[in-house]
Amino acid sequence: MRLETIAARGGRDVTSGNRPLTPPLYQTNVFVFDSMAQVEAVWEGKEPGFVYGRYGTPNHAMLEAMVAELEGGEAAVACASGMGATTALILGLLRRGDHLVAARDLYGSTTALFTDEVGRLGIEVSFVDASDPERVMEALTPKTRAVFVEALSNPLLRVVDVEALAARLAGRGVELIVDSSLASPAVLRPIGLGASVVLHSATKFISGHGDVTAGVVVGSRAVVERVRAAAIRVGTNLSPFDCWLAARGLRTLHVRLERQCANALVLARFLEGRPEVQRVHYPGLPSHPQHGLAARLFKNGAGAMLSFDLGGGAPAVERLMTRLRLIEFAPSFGDVATTWTYPARTSHRRIAAAAKAEMGIGPGLVRLSVGIEAVEDLIDDLTGAIEN
Ligand SMILES: Cc1ncc(COP(=O)(O)O)c(C=O)c1O
Repeated sequence: MRLETIAARGGRDVTSGNRPLTPPLYQTNVFVFDSMAQVEAVWEGKEPGFVYGRYGTPNHAMLEAMVAELEGGEAAVACASGMGATTALILGLLRRGDHLVAARDLYGSTTALFTDEVGRLGIEVSFVDASDPERVMEALTPKTRAVFVEALSNPLLRVVDVEALAARLAGRGVELIVDSSLASPAVLRPIGLGASVVLHSATKFISGHGDVTAGVVVGSRAVVERVRAAAIRVGTNLSPFDCWLAARGLRTLHVRLERQCANALVLARFLEGRPEVQRVHYPGLPSHPQHGLAARLFKNGAGAMLSFDLGGGAPAVERLMTRLRLIEFAPSFGDVATTWTYPARTSHRRIAAAAKAEMGIGPGLVRLSVGIEAVEDLIDDLTGAIEN
């Protein structure tokens, strides 16, 4: 072979001989076929194999199998982001003329997607207070195909009784979709409680290290194949490296969450005892209105997210920004490092002040995503920052 050919083609046939302990990264956007029979068999799913990057790689299969098993679902599909997963899910499950019932307490971009884009597709969406299963049932019409809720809402950590909702929806041909991004399968497994589909922004606890933007949909094989077909067509596929990173992060999910939940409870109790704090929103506290429900649904703790109202309002939040040394302002969550955000200026900035007040999002509301640090260091940082 000539040098140009060696450069273009060489080295591709090297195999390791034995299996590496850590799964390799398949950083390829296409796979090679040796016969037309193989093309036929792999394309039709009759033989194992992969086709093309947008359709998936072994790194996708690895992440999908892990999340499906952790959630107790038959199958999963990995997407480019949580929003990409929601888009593929809606396109895969719903069609023009269908009706979707959605919780009023949803991540802002999900609400915007449902209002502005899904509505444009001729799919009607009704928003209801999903913390009461009866409100959801009242909103159903003969055209309702799905109910979409967040298990733990953002930023006020309201809990949806997934079990009660699933029991009421059983046998009606309505999919119960649970966005479980704030909980993670270490805290809540909605399929075991009767939900049919679970969705994650894997950007958060699933990957856990602030280095991936990803989403995953878990459900029955039939549902996931419809979502996968939509994801392939609209191109909401994840990169192999992001699959690899998310799967690597997932290996420590339970250890991370055990520590994060324990730290969150300690911080919630600490904040509740501070005179500068009007109210702490954490389902693990007896003062949370749904503490009993959370204790019934959640395993291994009440999650790593909490929010609290600073009595001093916006000026007290400004002081927090300048005084916190360890806990950084970062508008996401789920990292091993503790971060905070200010919903009034981030996720809910486009909502009118009156509507925000009605939702319970006041000018002093701060959200914490609790990490794995020594909790004493977090308490020291917060103590100095919240003092008047
Ligand atoms: C509850 C919830 N669902 C979905 C998303 C969207 O995920 P992504 O940012 O990965 O698209 C977010 C993002 O913050 C979220 O908080």
